[in-house]
Amino acid sequence: MSHTIVIFGASGDLTSRKLIPALYRLFSRGRLPESTRIVGVSRSPYEHEEWRKSLRETTSKFVGKSFDSESWDAFAPNIYYQPGDIKDADSFNALATFLEEIEEGQTTGRVYYLSTMPQLYEEAIQQMGAAGLADDSNGSRRVIIEKPFGTDLKTAQKLNQSIHEVFREDQIYRIDHYLGKETVQNIFALRFANSIFEPLWNRNYIDHVQITVAEEVVIGRRAGYYDNSGILRDMFQNHILQLMMITAMEPPVKFDAALVRDEKVKVLHSVRRMTGGDFAAQTVRGQYAGYLQEEGVPPGSQTETFAALKLYCDNWRWQGVPFFLRSGKGMSCRTTQIVIQFKNVPHQLFGGSNSKKKLGNRLVIQVQPAEGIQLHFETKVADAGMKTRTNHLDFNFQDNNCGEETPDAYQRLLLDAVQGDASLFARGDEVELAWSIIDPIIEAWRSPAAPPLHSYPTGLWGPEQCSQWMFDQNREWFDVCPVI
Ligand code: BG6
Repeated sequence: MSHTIVIFGASGDLTSRKLIPALYRLFSRGRLPESTRIVGVSRSPYEHEEWRKSLRETTSKFVGKSFDSESWDAFAPNIYYQPGDIKDADSFNALATFLEEIEEGQTTGRVYYLSTMPQLYEEAIQQMGAAGLADDSNGSRRVIIEKPFGTDLKTAQKLNQSIHEVFREDQIYRIDHYLGKETVQNIFALRFANSIFEPLWNRNYIDHVQITVAEEVVIGRRAGYYDNSGILRDMFQNHILQLMMITAMEPPVKFDAALVRDEKVKVLHSVRRMTGGDFAAQTVRGQYAGYLQEEGVPPGSQTETFAALKLYCDNWRWQGVPFFLRSGKGMSCRTTQIVIQFKNVPHQLFGGSNSKKKLGNRLVIQVQPAEGIQLHFETKVADAGMKTRTNHLDFNFQDNNCGEETPDAYQRLLLDAVQGDASLFARGDEVELAWSIIDPIIEAWRSPAAPPLHSYPTGLWGPEQCSQWMFDQNREWFDVCPVI
């Protein structure tokens, strides 16, 4: 069966930076199903050839040294451009006609990628419905929707309802690019393809879990979006809760979209919602020094660029085990890591690094950029009696990939959508549940009783109050920048 990928918002940054390079890489590796066409739709009045030319330039820039002119020349004729305005019904009718023309009446699976401004999602979907673009009697019709999926529970519910008027849930692919990262998928492998970790993966052996998504970058020119969003909407409701779900979920019976997502959703159901004094006791808010001077940030903005949360899962596996989640812009380095901090031995025999501290072994999953896994454990110090020190076993993806280049997240996700595998996409109920965890925190942070917004210098690990907050709980953040 042939395929057509239609990108709405084709002149946008995501298309040239991520989507076309990902499709090109898939094509050049022979991974894209044969006769896959790409149709870009946006308001700019390009001709096919003009668009191809501009994409050639951007793709060669973003793909870098693996860009190959010959392979681009074979890929480019599959790319088309159709000018159109989301607000204009005629544009959708013209698009429907154009698609039928290039598909020549053959049974064709279509993927519609909404890479437009989020405010246009509902309208775009309704227009697609009215133009018959969701009709899957002559091939599958799927729609990929970029984040943000709503700005709170109410808007996410409304968006879900509106999409469901046109597409069935099994046709909807809500993208979270973190799920496309190889190392995030590897958490499934680590947990469910090994027998040595899972028996320990519970409240009996684990003291706490830390999930850190630190970014060195600041907001740059994104103030318009970022100041309304803040770190909880931008990172926690989606990426960080996704990491938490995969770390905390029960093994699914099969690696199948419905079953995997059922297990993830159960984690969100189990997350204890914060109330009353929890907002002060279980959250830390921060804003990097200099944020108010960024272009486009309104004077006196209270938007958080850093947050740390302590969440609990009220279920059998995790009762009483805190999940510390934190993320920030303007941090000391770019690192996404999950730390499984095990409890210490029940009785100390030796002097050494773990004798004074309360904590024991640690498994560090480095999601990016130094993709790998480290297991920290105690070893004997040579010639020092029975004193011990912490050492680690180090697994690094780069060195163990047998020369395979780690694919970009969008490569995997686009291919999955074309092939109809929704395992790595967020389901409607998942998105709504995630909002139901985050909304009360945002609301409390906007209330007069909000915990203080700590200023922090860029280049460190967020506000010092956050480190103190961990110390006060007899714990310590794993503040280590990966060696690349
Ligand atoms: C995006 C956020 O979803 O994820 C950005 O909007 C953030 O603010 C980005 O920088 C981080 O993604 P990655 O893949 O670079 O970790």
